[in-house]
Amino acid sequence: MTSPQPRRADASARMSSGAQLARIRAEFPALARMHGDLPYSYLDGPGGTQMPRRAIAAMTDYLERCNANHEGAFPTSRESDEVLAEAHAAAADFLGASDASEVAFGQNMTTLTFAVSRAIGRSLKPGDEIVVTRMDHDANVAPWLALQEERGVVIKWVGIRRTDCTLDMDEFERALSPRTRMVAVGLASNAVGTLNPVARIVEMAHAAGAQTYVDAVHAAPHVPIDVVAMGTDFLVCSPYKFFGPHLGLLYGKRERLEQLASYKVRPASDDAPGKWETGTLPGESLAALLGTFGYLEWVGSEFGGAVPPASRRERLVAAMGAIRETERGLALQALASLGEVPGLEIRGIVDPARIDERVPTFAFTLEGASPHQVASELGKRGIATWDGDYYAYELIRALGLEKTGGMVRVGLAHYNDPVEIERLAQALRELSGPHSAPRPDRT
Ligand SMILES: Cc1ncc(COP(=O)(O)O)c(C=O)c1O
Repeated sequence: MTSPQPRRADASARMSSGAQLARIRAEFPALARMHGDLPYSYLDGPGGTQMPRRAIAAMTDYLERCNANHEGAFPTSRESDEVLAEAHAAAADFLGASDASEVAFGQNMTTLTFAVSRAIGRSLKPGDEIVVTRMDHDANVAPWLALQEERGVVIKWVGIRRTDCTLDMDEFERALSPRTRMVAVGLASNAVGTLNPVARIVEMAHAAGAQTYVDAVHAAPHVPIDVVAMGTDFLVCSPYKFFGPHLGLLYGKRERLEQLASYKVRPASDDAPGKWETGTLPGESLAALLGTFGYLEWVGSEFGGAVPPASRRERLVAAMGAIRETERGLALQALASLGEVPGLEIRGIVDPARIDERVPTFAFTLEGASPHQVASELGKRGIATWDGDYYAYELIRALGLEKTGGMVRVGLAHYNDPVEIERLAQALRELSGPHSAPRPDRT
């Protein structure tokens, strides 16, 4: 089958036009919510995105039609099992995995990561090394730190460059040694939006003889993922961050998932992915996730230029390409608009020429108001943002912001309207109050 050539530039123009954005937004029932006279503004995507109507309908349909446990000798169980199998196959397509047995579902990314890290820990010896970063969400740090205590593993830290919140790659190089067993790194920062050079990191780790564990939770709603091209041994993400239900999703190279001994009940199969999916899977959530993939396939066809006979993988890649293009425009607008708010300081990449090195997630402080005050005031205006450290625990400390409430975080998704960015900037200008005169260094 030949690959469709997504017409990406056209696609972006089409998705960004008012009529096309309205088509996208109409797919998400939650976006119809009003706050007074204005649409409620969901800028809290990094905490969880909204679900398209197809996903909600698929969840209801499962519950009405085939709500049953696994492997029963009766029709509803067989139909439920078909949903579960299809969800694995679709998730493998989303991540670019070669086989459905390479993906496992769990409660969330954190729970899956504790399960995998504990399983890996069984074979580690005192003095073995694990590399973690100060950029990562704590869910890709704490599970590895636990092995320090339990197995005598040595933790090597990689810091950030404070000027632009990128990983210190020299430190990365120095952190690797012949004793490195695992490198745990995020694909995108859930705080400052930096995209890390993960393909290069995987190469460096493999050259040192180590495996890699990539946290793609924050990247998944923004960029196409290709685990084979990336070469990583493991990758995790969370469907609720990419327009799906509350679930975690684990990818592992087949030999890794097969070789590792998981913690499981005795009668459960020793095969992957079942050995990683402890207990009963939430069938209704897997059904909903199929609805999410259905939505993304529609985006790939309508806005990404994926035309028949494009495969599901090709439609999903086209969708994520179109989303990336659309979000690039939103990110540039956000940089410009937020950059004009007096007293507002974005941490991270702010140079528009480097827009491809980030996703549209912005963390900032506003002079004269704590992050919590800002988020609360925005909340009163129907604008959902976040404040604090959002579990980017080390990053906030590396920036010296832990005692002052961290930062405000604004996370854009492809369904956000440019109008929302202007409303946000206007609200922030009002909140900057006494600082509304431009500061000397900004004029
Ligand atoms: C980058 C990143 N990693 C991991 C997590 C944890 O995900 P989960 O809630 O699925 O455990 C989050 C959640 O905010 C995240 O943003």
